[in-house]
Amino acid sequence: MNEVAELARSLPSPACAWIYTPARLRERAAALRRALAPHTVLYAMKACANPAVLAAAVETVDGVECASRGELTLAEEAGAARLAFSGPAKTDQDWQAAAATETPLCVHAESLGELNGLAAAGYLGPVALRVNRGRPVPGTHRMTGPATPFGIDPDQVAAAAAHARALGLDVAGFHLHAVSGCLDADAYADHVADGLAWSARAADEAGIELRYVNVGGGLGADPRGETIDLERLGERIAGIDTAGAELVFEPGRYLAADSGWYLAEIVDLKTVAGQAFALVRGGTHHFRLPAAWGYSHPFTLVAVDHWPHPWPRPRLQEVDLRVCGELCTPRDVLHAGRRVEAVAVGDRVLFANAGAYGWEISHDRFLAHQRPLQITVDGA
Ligand SMILES: Cc1ncc(COP(=O)(O)O)c(C=O)c1O
Repeated sequence: MNEVAELARSLPSPACAWIYTPARLRERAAALRRALAPHTVLYAMKACANPAVLAAAVETVDGVECASRGELTLAEEAGAARLAFSGPAKTDQDWQAAAATETPLCVHAESLGELNGLAAAGYLGPVALRVNRGRPVPGTHRMTGPATPFGIDPDQVAAAAAHARALGLDVAGFHLHAVSGCLDADAYADHVADGLAWSARAADEAGIELRYVNVGGGLGADPRGETIDLERLGERIAGIDTAGAELVFEPGRYLAADSGWYLAEIVDLKTVAGQAFALVRGGTHHFRLPAAWGYSHPFTLVAVDHWPHPWPRPRLQEVDLRVCGELCTPRDVLHAGRRVEAVAVGDRVLFANAGAYGWEISHDRFLAHQRPLQITVDGA
């Protein structure tokens, strides 16, 4: 943190940057591997595809889960030892990319229609059927439970397996990704145990020789830095019966969340209708998560002494400060307001635990503002 804060202070004005600390991902990967051993861990690179963060994941976990052919290419280039290919609405070009991938790959098929495209492309590797079991798991995003566009219904599994066999495809098992942002270790352990037991039964009924059960990602890490209790999860799944299948986890958020920091300099300070505002060089077009989820992302203020202008430096004291960006929309809010003792134009606002789904989901083309710097700090 100190190293990141020092960097935040020293960047030239107007400072605006994503700062990545891949060492943090290595630490989280080590903790995850200890808790989940001997099972397989893939990194869901959609959470953060920064090259240094992806490289750290490639070094420390078993492979990479991809959700587009662009991600397949990036993961292969980063040297991933194995890959999974998930995601809805795949196209012929995606199937051809899967068929041409030289790295060991398991494709997660989202529908019966996807099986046709995959077979037509000449894909010969293993396939897992993504099933929406309708069993909700608590978290910030539920992919199962209510109707979602993901996977097939459980009662379609036998038909899908028969269809895949007729097409000459090798069905290895199931993909059961169900949730994102789950902070409840017991509920997650139940998801794993229940998913394994269901997979054994469903494979038996559908005539699938079960080799692969992927329970997805979803291990929680929230903006305050709170994480799912890995020790508890590890205890709950220790020695679990996988019916001889490989048990696979594919977390993104847990691994990447504390590896990314968003930094934005305060370029204006004012009070409007009794509300104090800090306007920053940057905003939700670089760090969309708070606006997308409708929450205030915790921040720290990094005070800067330097003031290069001849006019007096604007300052506020003892205010509830709302942090907004440079977009012409009232939704460009990074933090709706918290008490600060003192703040001045030129100070920097630093958002920790921002690495997962931060830059990756952002709409940075809007208004053609200059992009943030992308900086890697190792050892922080
Ligand atoms: C198929 C799939 N796997 C893994 C993940 C990663 O989820 P998380 O970042 O919550 O671990 C996602 C996220 O949406 C996903 O769609």
